Amino acid sequence: MRNRIEVMHGVNLDQLGRRDPAHYGSLTLEELERQISSAARELGLEVRFFQTNHEGKFVEHLHRLEGLADGIVLNPGAWTHYSYAIRDALELTGLPAVEVHLSNIDAREEWRRRSVITDLCIARVAGKGPDGYRDALEQLRAKIGE
Ligand code: DQA
Repeated sequence: MRNRIEVMHGVNLDQLGRRDPAHYGSLTLEELERQISSAARELGLEVRFFQTNHEGKFVEHLHRLEGLADGIVLNPGAWTHYSYAIRDALELTGLPAVEVHLSNIDAREEWRRRSVITDLCIARVAGKGPDGYRDALEQLRAKIGE
């Protein structure tokens, strides 16, 4: 069964709980992951989590996903806006991916409006806070079940 989802958090997402709650809410990363796990359970998906503040480690994790995941949920944090290295590595996986942002990146500073990964993803969910991850899982489940 194709139900293995890799949930990848990028730079500064380990600091959730300390970051501006107006944009990111007040959950810590651990609490967010617990919420994602329970949504995944309800949807019959298996999730694994990864977080790093090092771009190269994020890239190498993507390199290693072959055969280990059927889909990816990723929130690369600020790397979203400029990391062609992460974009290239995501493309290399060939896996369906959904881009998630806790905040509404289209309604913030100009530089956050640009994402270098959007066109590689089957969907983007932004501005829905932690619930956005559930939406992302649902969209991936529909895609990998096709
Ligand atoms: C973010 C939005 C990014 O612009 C920001 O740099 C982050 C988090 C979000 O989840 O809203 O670190 O990806």
